Formats: sequence, C-alpha cells, structure tokens
Amino acid sequence: MSGLKGNKCSSVVRRLILLVLLTNILLVLYCLTNPRQGNNSSSRRATCPLSAAQLLQKNVSVPPQSTKSGECSPKVNIMFMKTHKTASSTVLNILFRFGEKHKLKFALPKGRNDFFYPSPFRCSQVKDYRLGDCFNIVCNHMRFDHQEVAKLLPADAVYITILRDPVALFESAFHYYHRAVPLTWRIDGEDKLARFLNSPQSFYSANAFNSFYLKNLLFFDFGLDNHLEADDPRIARDINDLSKRFHLVLFAEYFEESLILLKDTLCWTTEDILYFKLNARRNSSVSRLTPELRAKALQWNEADWRLYQHFNVTFWARVEAYGRERMKREVNELRRRNSEMMEICIEEGGAVEAQKIQDRRFLPWQPIGESSILGYNMKKNIDPKFRTICEKMLTPEIQYLSSLGVSLWLTRLWGWLKDAVWI
Ligand SMILES: *[C@@H]1O[C@H](CO)[C@@H](O)[C@H](O)[C@H]1NC(C)=O
Ligand SMILES: *[C@@H]1O[C@H](CO)[C@@H](O)[C@H](O)[C@H]1NC(C)=O
Ligand SMILES: *[C@@H]1O[C@H](CO)[C@@H](O)[C@H](O)[C@H]1NC(C)=O
Ligand SMILES: *[C@@H]1O[C@H](CO)[C@@H](O)[C@H](O)[C@H]1NC(C)=O
Ligand SMILES: *[C@@H]1O[C@H](CO)[C@@H](O)[C@H](O)[C@H]1NC(C)=O
Repeated sequence: MSGLKGNKCSSVVRRLILLVLLTNILLVLYCLTNPRQGNNSSSRRATCPLSAAQLLQKNVSVPPQSTKSGECSPKVNIMFMKTHKTASSTVLNILFRFGEKHKLKFALPKGRNDFFYPSPFRCSQVKDYRLGDCFNIVCNHMRFDHQEVAKLLPADAVYITILRDPVALFESAFHYYHRAVPLTWRIDGEDKLARFLNSPQSFYSANAFNSFYLKNLLFFDFGLDNHLEADDPRIARDINDLSKRFHLVLFAEYFEESLILLKDTLCWTTEDILYFKLNARRNSSVSRLTPELRAKALQWNEADWRLYQHFNVTFWARVEAYGRERMKREVNELRRRNSEMMEICIEEGGAVEAQKIQDRRFLPWQPIGESSILGYNMKKNIDPKFRTICEKMLTPEIQYLSSLGVSLWLTRLWGWLKDAVWI
C-alpha cells in the first residue's frame, strides 16, 4: 500500500520536474529565437583591424624564438571551430592554456558553455560584446558562420578545426545525445543504434527536436545544410568553401600528428601542445559496428564522409610536405613529454571512472542519465612547480570556462535538472 503510494508520489515529482524541464527548454528556445542583436549589423566593420588586435599583445610574454630555422613568431589570433565528439575538448584545453599564459583575449559565451548552439553564431552571443570589439581567440562550440566570426578577429587570424571518422562520430553522438533527441526514445530493443541504422527513415525526421545530432553533424556544425542528398553538387561546393576558410584541419584519428602540424602552423613550442586526453568515454560503452552497419552509417552521413575524405587527403599531403621522418621524431618527442607529465600529475597512471574522481574540479560533464565520461585524479604530492600546470591540464571544459569568468547559469540549471530527472 505505502509502496504504491510512494510510487505514485515519486511519479508526480517526476512529472513536476519534467514540467520544469520543459519550461527550461522553452526558456532556452525563447533565448534562441531572440538573440540580443546589435542594432544595425550592416553598418558594422567587416573585420576588426589588425592594429587593434596587436594592441592586445603588447604585454604578451612571447618566448624568444630559439630555433635557427624559425623566423616566425607565435601566432595568437585563432579561430578554433570546435566540432562535437571529435576530441575537440582536448584541443580546447590547449588553447585555454596558451591564451591564459599569453594574456590573450577570448571571445567567451555567456551563461552557458556554447554560443547558443544550435542557432547560428552571432557576435551578440559573445560575453560583454560591444560593436567593434576585437579578440584573439574564439574556441567554444558554435554553429559556424564565417562572416560573423570574422567580425571578431583580425584579418590574420588562423582558422582551425578538427574532424573525426563520421562513423565513430555518429556512434559517439548517438550514445552521448540519445536522451536529448526525443526521436530516439521510441526505438526499442537493446541495440538502438543498429535498429536506427537499419532503417533510419522510419525514425528520423529532419524537423524533430535536436535531430541534427544524428545526421551529418559536422556539416551542421559548420553551418551547412546537413540534409543534402548524396548526389547534390552543393556538397562539393560547401567542402571547397570550407577548404578556403580553414588553414588547418586536425584529425582525431591522427591526433598527435595534428598537434605537430598545429605547432608548426602557429609557430608554437612542444610545451604548448602537451595534453591529457579529456572527455574520453569508458571503453565498454563504445559500440563496435559490423562492416555492414559501418557502411550504412557512412551512407547515412554521406556529406560528412565526403568532407572527411577530402581533408584527409590534404592532411597527409601536409604531413608529406612537413617530412615523414621529422613528423615521426616530433610525435615521439610529444609522446615522451606527455607521459612525463602524466607521471608527474596523475594518480593511478591514467583516466578513471567518474565515480572515482575525488575532486569535483576535475569531474567532467556527463551525458544525461549516465556517467560514462572518464576523468582523472590529480596526485596529492606534486612538486609545487608543476602544480598549476597539472591543474590546468586536468581541468574539464566547464570548470575551465568558469575560471575564465563565464557564469554558466544555464548550463548549471540544465545539469541540475538532468541529474534530478534521470538519477
Ligand atoms: C540602437 O540604436 C539606437 C539609435 O541609434 C540607440 O539609441 C540604441 O542604443 C541602440 N541599441 C543598441 C543595443 O545598440
Ligand atoms: C543602419 O545604419 C545605417 C547607417 O548608420 C542606416 O542608413 C540604415 O538605415 C540602418 N538600418 C537599419 C535597419 O536600421
Ligand atoms: C606586463 O605584465 C606584468 C604582470 O603580468 C607586469 O608586471 C608588467 O608591468 C607589465 N608590463 C607592461 C609593459 O605593461
Ligand atoms: C578498448 O577496447 C578495444 C576493443 O574491445 C581494445 O582493443 C582496447 O585495447 C581497449 N582499450 C582500453 C583502454 O581498454
Ligand atoms: C586517410 O589517408 C591515409 C593516408 O593516405 C589513408 O591511409 C587512410 O585510409 C585515409 N582514410 C580515409 C578514411 O580515407
């Protein structure tokens, strides 16, 4: 009897919470449809002047370039298009650290950890933005819009992004977001992913809430149409446009090589690109796809697949130009330095389950209703001279943004609701 009552009660509470949740979604939608636009965008300058950005650098502690070959000086104006589920959080940490170290000016989001994704990027989404403001680094999740981004950055800014094999990306997004994508809720059975891929059209609807997470997510992130048919000539045109916008495209699959090219392009040091893999998922939660399902996933994400193949070719041409042997040496050196840092900073020699993370400062954001994202425990007795660098290298995106002064109230509200409803 009382058990029954308890059940009833908890279901009422659940519904109440869902109501609040929906209200929250409505609130977000309201914000999305009413981005506080600057008055008159047509009268804005097309790009911010180089002189203004160089002013930002006046007190930059740029290390003197010691190498003989290097006439270059470190590049500080950077646009990183942070794609979803591509190891981009690890790159973000590298950029945050570099920016902090050199006192660069970040264009940060307000109230949350992205620029009102999935609505297209607008300058008005930048924290404390005023017409004509210039920044050094833009690096948080957004739906890319080149013309808008260009207004924030000097003309010499380096545009960078990162891609990942579309099948792995699709699998990852499916896992990470399925509870946030209502159209997956009615897929029955153990292996929802396989069921979906076997007949996507019977579940998918282009207009359904958050459906973009499940189709050509890369194309969507780049501000492109993610529903183009495989034979649509606009796919090739869009890819060609992107190849003109981006100076360097990194690959999750060739992450170390990518960072070496990044270092080379930006004239940075190996120290600048040291990293611990952040936001990785527990191995057991990764679905291994059969070759048949892999083929279906590629077909379903054809635009992303073409994008990936295009840049894969240009990537390896760059590695060739850089020198294969030189690349091998550099990668080995990076690995050596990374494991040195791991030895210095991390307890138990590697990533651990979220439940085992003792210090909440290092607890990464988890998907709805799960705790599959791994994190680290920092060693207790770190040599004081390494303490700060260890802390920074281990700090997940949300906590790092907080420390950079972003309030994140919407993200936190969402996080609280997500835990209240599903745990
Ligand atoms: C919009 O333009 C009007 C008139 O020029 C000005 O008074 C107002 O402050 C502007 N608003 C914003 C948000 O820039
Ligand atoms: C924008 O500003 C320009 C010049 O300042 C003005 O001529 C134009 O009418 C304005 N447009 C709108 C939509 O307010
Ligand atoms: C540069 O910054 C440091 C502290 O970060 C400060 O002590 C120094 O006075 C600054 N130099 C200039 C030229 O502003
Ligand atoms: C994850 O699983 C794959 C295949 O099941 C295995 O090859 C790999 O070594 C595992 N990685 C870790 C870190 O356990
Ligand atoms: C990417 O390029 C490398 C080197 O040419 C090649 O081995 C690999 O198969 C390519 N990957 C894809 C998915 O095309």
